[in-house]
Amino acid sequence: MKRIAVLTSGGDAPGMNAAIRAVVRSAFASGLEVFGVRRGYLGLLEGDFLSLGPRDVANILQRGGTILLTARSQEFLTEEGRAKAASHLREARIDGLVAIGGDGTYRGALALVEEQGIPVVGVPGTIDNDLWGTDFTIGFDTAVNTALGAIDRIRDTAASHERVFFIEVMGRQTGFIALEVGVAGGAEVIVLPEVPTTPEACAQVILDSASKGKRSSIVVVAEGAYPGGTSALAEAVRRVGGFDGRVTVLGHIQRGGSPTARDRVLASRLGAGAVEALTGGRGGVAVGVIAGEIAEVPLKEVVGRRKDIHRRLVELARILSI
Ligand code: F6P
Repeated sequence: MKRIAVLTSGGDAPGMNAAIRAVVRSAFASGLEVFGVRRGYLGLLEGDFLSLGPRDVANILQRGGTILLTARSQEFLTEEGRAKAASHLREARIDGLVAIGGDGTYRGALALVEEQGIPVVGVPGTIDNDLWGTDFTIGFDTAVNTALGAIDRIRDTAASHERVFFIEVMGRQTGFIALEVGVAGGAEVIVLPEVPTTPEACAQVILDSASKGKRSSIVVVAEGAYPGGTSALAEAVRRVGGFDGRVTVLGHIQRGGSPTARDRVLASRLGAGAVEALTGGRGGVAVGVIAGEIAEVPLKEVVGRRKDIHRRLVELARILSI
């Protein structure tokens, strides 16, 4: 293996730049040439490559977003599109690829391995933390801390006005962010896609809290938890409970910002781990961190599998919110 490429695809996540830096510098240390691909799989389709040396990734460790840009490509979803992407890699004499992203990125990576025989290694980069084969994804810790800062601020005004606040956090169809910030922020109720609830049950918890002397409540809602969305849930809970309440949707603020130390270290370890997998001839895996150690799991075992939330944390949240 002499030349490798690196791309970021799907939703950006804080720490992706730290992973790019780790890929470039650890590859350089192993005597490899590295190319960045702009705009993820879209850039592969267009042959949009740039040479990256150790100095090109200086001063990006602390920056959110991705210097390589990211996109979602419809054409890459087709077999013809992937064949075209692979031909661009071959023309550039690139022997292996590191794909940093989430579920969709991993699907694309697996297709390139299986259809085109290109060695690809996946690096988990998504704030959602919903990937199999790793305990943590790059960006999750930063997103949780960003959301937590917002919730702490909302708690101040909620307490002053003796109000109920419904705060929606990201996570697509999973509740990893919601559960973590719910516990860290002392939410009275955490609404998760993995634990279905009803407006009646939510209202009851809030009314019970009030009867125990709580004068304000925070309800953390994962964006995919309630079919009609957080506003519909809030409206229904208000109607059933007979109290007022405000809705705050945190949105894309959770995707930006400087990565936490934990995300920078994770990204550095995983970026280097991806290069190690490629140079060791182990294309077709996703690198992850399991019980503190870097692990490699075949992409075909990762794609299509859903990691479950920490069920005991759900129970702990309920106990601690009395
Ligand atoms: O996967 C990351 C994520 O931020 C999800 O939490 C969210 O549902 C989605 O991306 C939003 O995507 P977009 O930026 O395309 O609106």
